[in-house]
Amino acid sequence: MNKALFLSVAVLCCASELSAQTASLPRLVKTGVSTQLLVDNKPYLVLGGELGNSSASSNDYMRPVWPKLRQMNMNTVIAPVYWELMEPVEGQFDFSLLDSLITNARLNDMKLVLLWFGSWKNSMSCYAPAWVKTDVKRFPRSLNRDGVPQEILSPFSKDNLDADKKAFVALMRHIREADDRQHTVITIQVENEIGMLGSARSYDEAANAAFGRPVPRELLAYLQKNKDNLTPQLDSLWKINGFKTSGNWEAVFGKGLATDEMFIAWNYARYVNEIAAAGKAVYDLPMYVNTALNRAGWRPGVYPSGGPVPHLRDIWKAGAPAIDLLAPDIYFPDLQHWCDLYTRSAAPLFIPEIHFEKDDGAKAFFAFGHYDCLSFSPFSIESAEHPENEPIGKAYRVLREVSPLIVKYRPEGKVSGFLLSKDSSSQTVTVGDYRITVKHDFTLPWSPGSREGQWPLTGCLIIAVSPDEFFVAGTGSVVRFASADPGKCAGLLSVDEGDFEDGRWVPGRRMNGDQDNQGRDIRIPMNEYGIQRVKLYQY
Ligand code: DGJ
Repeated sequence: MNKALFLSVAVLCCASELSAQTASLPRLVKTGVSTQLLVDNKPYLVLGGELGNSSASSNDYMRPVWPKLRQMNMNTVIAPVYWELMEPVEGQFDFSLLDSLITNARLNDMKLVLLWFGSWKNSMSCYAPAWVKTDVKRFPRSLNRDGVPQEILSPFSKDNLDADKKAFVALMRHIREADDRQHTVITIQVENEIGMLGSARSYDEAANAAFGRPVPRELLAYLQKNKDNLTPQLDSLWKINGFKTSGNWEAVFGKGLATDEMFIAWNYARYVNEIAAAGKAVYDLPMYVNTALNRAGWRPGVYPSGGPVPHLRDIWKAGAPAIDLLAPDIYFPDLQHWCDLYTRSAAPLFIPEIHFEKDDGAKAFFAFGHYDCLSFSPFSIESAEHPENEPIGKAYRVLREVSPLIVKYRPEGKVSGFLLSKDSSSQTVTVGDYRITVKHDFTLPWSPGSREGQWPLTGCLIIAVSPDEFFVAGTGSVVRFASADPGKCAGLLSVDEGDFEDGRWVPGRRMNGDQDNQGRDIRIPMNEYGIQRVKLYQY
């Protein structure tokens, strides 16, 4: 073989090996009406829990944690990688904590989502290494409106960006070397809850200069292209100011906190985009940013200004195309409200953090069933004192069993989810030939809790596997099927409780008589977590 031919064959082989490797990396793929996270080429649901911030900094601390996580039937741990410990001296990397996470995740048959605690963690730069923190000249801080420096690295500094980017690229290279065959690490969060505090934007010198310059062309092009589908706040600001397509920030969007916030959001997004893109060039995993949500009535700067909050979606999408997902951290009670905002325009929902509480089991059924959610993950999961009793663990046991059905039927829109409370105790949907009404268990007059003042949340998901056959999985729910045809009635042919063992349905009791209200309803009582298979007929 001549040398040139040999070389081109070698390049081709190498390229095809690379693309084969890339093809099997964890990735997001749009299938039918939903987006799936593929791991080893199969759709994967993150039945997760996020560790408290400091837990993964000590292997000794983590030792008794792993069995707890297993007991809660988690398949994924969401865990931080700390810049200060990974690069204690500039250019010298220590990956021992990460290696230990990977080893233990594998030993416990779990996957990892890694959180890059780099330039920003809950707005602050507390995870920057000491060599960054102490050199404020080289690594400048953001200033508030009064010119007071904050412990928040400025997103306007190339040195800040380069230092973070180098460390992040080293991290992604190490993950590739350690894991490109086993795919234990499936997704990366870039930074943590970004946003300016103290004022709506930074007032450092570079920030002030950028604020006076024209709004970047990329952003204006995005706005023009997506004019009919912008978030209402951005649309109205742009409109009030005459849909200008050139000018500086205040000329295009007007003067005020909203403009200050958009400006800082754009600059955070560009910074994060560069880090994520550089990391993906080394090892192409799905990447997301998480959000400290904005409390109603609070001003930007009081809540972290410029993070990927719902009203800044367009700025983040335009500024950070390397970021695959904008993800909400849900600590507020109204789960549905926030999930609706984060799934606008069919965006996939990934919940990296949710308040760890007793209702989480019910919420998980709802999130996976109703929103085609990719990840559910209570925060500080290792704080469970009795993991064997945790509702989320019981829900995950059930969700693990029905996951293959969820991922198979969600692209066809055949999975529905329900969250039930005292105020919203009954919901009805139509699926194929049936109208399905799902009620809270306490709506049954004979349910032991029906006279209680407080009703815990309950929930379930329902999968239509054929026109007359459904699986119901959840807790505290009563389900009634009616014909979608007003001229017909629907009846229960058979109801079986059971489990999936290695993907095979193994029926338990035949649920009839009192257990299905003499042929009327499917019921999974309060505090029970289970699956029932329902066959129906119409007459
Ligand atoms: C949200 C942050 O992302 C977490 O790291 C942690 O600080 C929690 N808040 C604490 O509630």
